[in-house]
Amino acid sequence: MMAQYQHLSCLRWICHFNVLSCIPLTGSVPYSELASLANVPVTQLRSVCRMLMTSNLLCEPVPDEVAHNNVSSMFITNPGFTDWATFIAQFSMPAAAHMTEATQKWGQTDKKNETAVGLALGTDKPLFDFISESPKLSKLFAAYMKNVQGGDGTNLRHLIKGFDWASLNDAVVVDVGGSTCSSAIALAQAFPNLRFVVEDLPEPIATARQVLEKQPESIKARITVHVHSFFLPQPCKEAQVYLMRMILHDWPDREALTILQNHLSVLKHDAKARLLIMDTVLPSLLPGQAEDRMRDHNQSEAVLRVRDLTMMQSFNAKERERSQFTDLLSQTSDAEGCLVLKNVVKPPCSVLSVLEVAYERFDAMPDPALTLQPMTAGFAFDASLGGLKLNNGSSHSSSAGSEPRNYHDYAQNDLVSSSMEGGQASQMNGTAQQSMPGVVFG
Ligand SMILES: C[S@@+](CC[C@H](N)C(=O)[O-])C[C@H]1O[C@@H](n2cnc3c(N)ncnc32)[C@H](O)[C@@H]1O
Repeated sequence: MMAQYQHLSCLRWICHFNVLSCIPLTGSVPYSELASLANVPVTQLRSVCRMLMTSNLLCEPVPDEVAHNNVSSMFITNPGFTDWATFIAQFSMPAAAHMTEATQKWGQTDKKNETAVGLALGTDKPLFDFISESPKLSKLFAAYMKNVQGGDGTNLRHLIKGFDWASLNDAVVVDVGGSTCSSAIALAQAFPNLRFVVEDLPEPIATARQVLEKQPESIKARITVHVHSFFLPQPCKEAQVYLMRMILHDWPDREALTILQNHLSVLKHDAKARLLIMDTVLPSLLPGQAEDRMRDHNQSEAVLRVRDLTMMQSFNAKERERSQFTDLLSQTSDAEGCLVLKNVVKPPCSVLSVLEVAYERFDAMPDPALTLQPMTAGFAFDASLGGLKLNNGSSHSSSAGSEPRNYHDYAQNDLVSSSMEGGQASQMNGTAQQSMPGVVFG
């Protein structure tokens, strides 16, 4: 841990001064020559490069000369890496460093202009407003997002695998906050009958138009782009799927609810229409699991926690546990029904899950008392573990188990659970908690 903050700050330094592009892809260059090419002090350059070498970036094959290794050369062969690192260095790192000051100043807040990133950048504007005012920053953010999508855990192949797109035939898919069309293009390539509407703010949509121009006719003919804010009611009523990929995690609950509520009427209008939320689902800690978690403390949870903290520091938003999603959905309602979670799929190796959501009328929902009957006390289906799991955390196949904590715990955490990964869909419908308007839980 001691070295990590220096690694990041050195990465920021070499990206800022464009050092990597001054190093030849083959052979090495003396520090003195590199210093004058990059216009930086040679002693600082030497210290920074040697620190980075301890994290497997760059190497020194000849004394006092520096060269690329296979990791650093990727920053040259794939310029997206530099965009990614520049964004992390310019926004994410300073935001993380100002987290303490943000809490000191505002305590608990969900205002988008009271954030650690705002303190770091010296602005009282919400991050997206700050970014969208500058075409240069908008381009950097779009490039960063494109690169995030290229990463294994958030790769677009998980979007393709996470839902039965083929069953939609020639339906329309609306990509809400679809940025520069990367998702729409990937889906259009994989499913030649689908048509797409991509909605976003003016800057990303302007870039999206340029991106689309470069696509073959077979792709661009099926994608239309619109400037539309998801804080206004969804104007496209005829779609079969409304996709929100990495959208809700940018927003605190109040705004997330407004975004969802703006899609209630299009989902109600067509019983087959679906909302697909693709976001991280944080692991929920069940009683008795604390020790397991300490023992199994692993990188995959760290990656999810990084995402959660980044959302907090950037937007006062958060990644959510499954029960927090079902809470939000059950609050997205009108007099006759509400949104319900139908299915959750976490494709292998993905850090994001696909949550399939529909509108359901209260009078069509199963009686919650009946829905609970078949459940064996203390069990939950956890498809990611490939089977039944005791609420006390251990996998098990007998009927013994601890008592449920209360009705709320079952409804929120346990009933909704199915996954392609687990191979068996445990479609418990997820409607228990939503089916009881007026009942105060827990
Ligand atoms: C984290 S990015 C996700 C982009 C894309 N869905 C993806 O999966 O890569 C969030 C997107 O929300 C967009 N956005 C922010 N505020 C918006 C608003 N009020 N209406 C529509 N889009 C918005 C941003 O411009 C950005 O493209």
